[in-house]
Amino acid sequence: MAATDLERCSNVEPEPRSLSLGGHVGFDSLPDQLVSKSVTQGFSFNILCVGETGIGKSTLMNTLFNTTFETEEASHHEASVRLRPQTYDLQESNVQLKLTIVDAVGFGDQINKDERPIVDYIDAQFENYLQEELKIRRSLFDYHDTRVHVCLYFITPTGHSLKSLDLVTMKKLDSKVNIIPIIAKADTISKSELHKFKIKIMGELVSNGVQIYQFPTDDEAVAEINAVMNAHLPFAVVGSTEEVKVGNKLVRARQYPWGVVQVENENHCDFVKLREMLIRVNMEDLREQTHTRHYELYRRCKLEEMGFQDSDGDSQPFSLQETYEAKRKEFLSELQRKEEEMRQMFVNKVKETELELKEKERELHEKFEHLKWIHQEEKRKVEEKRRELEEETSAFSRRKVEALQSQALQATSQQPLRKDKDKKKASGWSSIYSVTIP
Ligand code: GTP
Ligand code: MG
Repeated sequence: MAATDLERCSNVEPEPRSLSLGGHVGFDSLPDQLVSKSVTQGFSFNILCVGETGIGKSTLMNTLFNTTFETEEASHHEASVRLRPQTYDLQESNVQLKLTIVDAVGFGDQINKDERPIVDYIDAQFENYLQEELKIRRSLFDYHDTRVHVCLYFITPTGHSLKSLDLVTMKKLDSKVNIIPIIAKADTISKSELHKFKIKIMGELVSNGVQIYQFPTDDEAVAEINAVMNAHLPFAVVGSTEEVKVGNKLVRARQYPWGVVQVENENHCDFVKLREMLIRVNMEDLREQTHTRHYELYRRCKLEEMGFQDSDGDSQPFSLQETYEAKRKEFLSELQRKEEEMRQMFVNKVKETELELKEKERELHEKFEHLKWIHQEEKRKVEEKRRELEEETSAFSRRKVEALQSQALQATSQQPLRKDKDKKKASGWSSIYSVTIP
């Protein structure tokens, strides 16, 4: 057979043949093995509660899981939205559940009502999982998966319409997490108002393109109930851990002067529907949707951002190795370019500094020449002055000598007269004049 024929043959996968078994083999126990393995391993489920401070988040969580989670009340003065995750180990029959409840503390409370911290938290959990997946030695088996499986979005029972904060936040979250909107404190709104409010909310969500979680209808076993429940969204819930005696039974309820609101009475609120849909029917679907839809989207964007592709421009499959090599080459040439750029920058800087220094040197030289010239001028002037002074001094000396000489001459010409006069005087003193010529 020619090489091309061989290649062609190896590319075509043969259809698997159906065979019947002669007797019981035992692989029909695979589902049981799977269940047993999952039960041993335990499950994790992470709920994100988003809603304004005091809307009833903690009360509803306590009511849903029929326990008391330790929670502290949020202050209305938080500077910004802060995510507070708390993990609990729960057990029901032989099933272990690692439950994480994440509170968006301060949401809807401040002027700065940014939903960014919530988005960042969800992304951070995806990133942690991705990093674990990319490790050479992965330990996904005992990895504590903190990815958010569901976001319970608590809507304030205003009876009006959704706040723009709610729409913006849900829009930002809908591609990252399964959102189940719920109307909180539904006992504070009348039945007819609640009905209109639900219709309005769903209309607004649709017109704003917000994708909320739809209970799946592809599994026959739950298709019917899920389809019915999808029509009941958003669930209007009441939370309470208080027990009130109704008839001869103790039930969880909220007691008012005018009557009792029973949490688990379907005529009073949708709490039972929520518990049914969230925990008893669709918990696994929420986990699966998180992995196959939301995490997959995050992973794809992240890997593409990092330069990984499944195929090149001609739709040829790209192996991880090829992508890595291509990316490495790209990175090295980028590094080289940056290095060259920096070297050029350095050379330019040195040249600039050299020019500046030369200019400074020239300026200094000019200054020096100027000062030298001033100094010589001054010296010349001083020299001139000195000469003038010397001339004046010698002229003065000459005149002085002349003056003294003329005085001496005058004195000698008058001497005989004086001698006569002196002789006439009785005294015998005489005067001697001496002239010293300098
Ligand atoms: P923070 O964590 O501080 O933001 O509050 P929260 O949203 O957890 O609210 P929490 O559960 O602490 O409830 C606040 C108040 O609302 C408490 O007084 C609850 O009793 C009350 N409350 C909770 N659920 C309901 C409800 O369904 N209806 C009514 N009327 N009140 C409720
Ligand atoms: Mg709380």
